[in-house]
Amino acid sequence: KRPVILDCDPGHDDAISLILALSSDQLDVLAVTTSAGNQTQAKTLNNTLRILTLLGRQDIPVASGSPKPLARNLIIADNVHGESGLDGPVLPDPSFAPVEQTAIELMAEKVRQSATPVTLVPTGPLTNIAIFLTAYPELHTNIKEIVLMGGAASEGNWTPAAEFNIFVDPEAADIVFKAGIPVVMCGLDVTHKAQIMDEDIERIRDIGNPISQCVAELLDFFMIYHRDPKWGFTGAPLHDPCTIAWMLQPELFTATDCWVGIETKGEYTQGMTVVDRYHLTSNPHNAKVMFDIDRLAFVDFIIDCLSKYFQK
Ligand code: BDR
Ligand code: CA
Repeated sequence: KRPVILDCDPGHDDAISLILALSSDQLDVLAVTTSAGNQTQAKTLNNTLRILTLLGRQDIPVASGSPKPLARNLIIADNVHGESGLDGPVLPDPSFAPVEQTAIELMAEKVRQSATPVTLVPTGPLTNIAIFLTAYPELHTNIKEIVLMGGAASEGNWTPAAEFNIFVDPEAADIVFKAGIPVVMCGLDVTHKAQIMDEDIERIRDIGNPISQCVAELLDFFMIYHRDPKWGFTGAPLHDPCTIAWMLQPELFTATDCWVGIETKGEYTQGMTVVDRYHLTSNPHNAKVMFDIDRLAFVDFIIDCLSKYFQK
């Protein structure tokens, strides 16, 4: 089993990511830590506890992360994810509490104790990961890689140049991409191709277990924001689940090793990921950047994961 720590800001696509990760026998989810992003820290923490309660996974330690970015005020995405951060389905109240430790302390404990190097999977702003990497340099050797959702080579979704997770905390992203740890970047180049369509949501609903029902209702809400014709989408981009799909079925993806720099100061480009896709510089590669996905196989992967909840 591959040991992983999920650092997330649920968030509809973060919640689906958690559900997919916990359906798999190949991933050992050592902890879930929460970042402030789609909603405030208090709300993303509560949403994480609610999803794990729904899944009956009170055994997984959950810890609360930083309430704000390293050097900036928090920006939230309530226009996408609603007032709760997870509007749509009726979710159970949390049946358990977070651990006393902070997200950073819990990450350190789990990475230190793990017999095999741990994969960190951030699907929100990178604040917690940056604080952890800075505070515990001696633990870097026990981190296998960082599989993150964030950035893009060629577009933005929060500004013309920047993707939301990186835009919220560019200083944190800068630390993460410079840490010398392999990064797998699932950015908008691939996640905008990982769209879930109305007919896929009906397939999910038809699975007919309480978890798939919840995912269908999450997606119904998530669709609303993405139906705006300005995006030119047919469905809704399932950003964060690309991280889990890549770990479990990497053959679905096409990727290129690149140098990626983070723009922290640009007048128009703050939070931009500058991706040297065509190797125009001699900067050493620091990330594997995802560019393409087999969308139909990705949807089948999601259906397979959710169908497993019948047996659990
Ligand atoms: C990212 O921003 C959030 O709204 C989503 O959860 C995803 O992590 C996409 O830009
Ligand atoms: Ca997210």
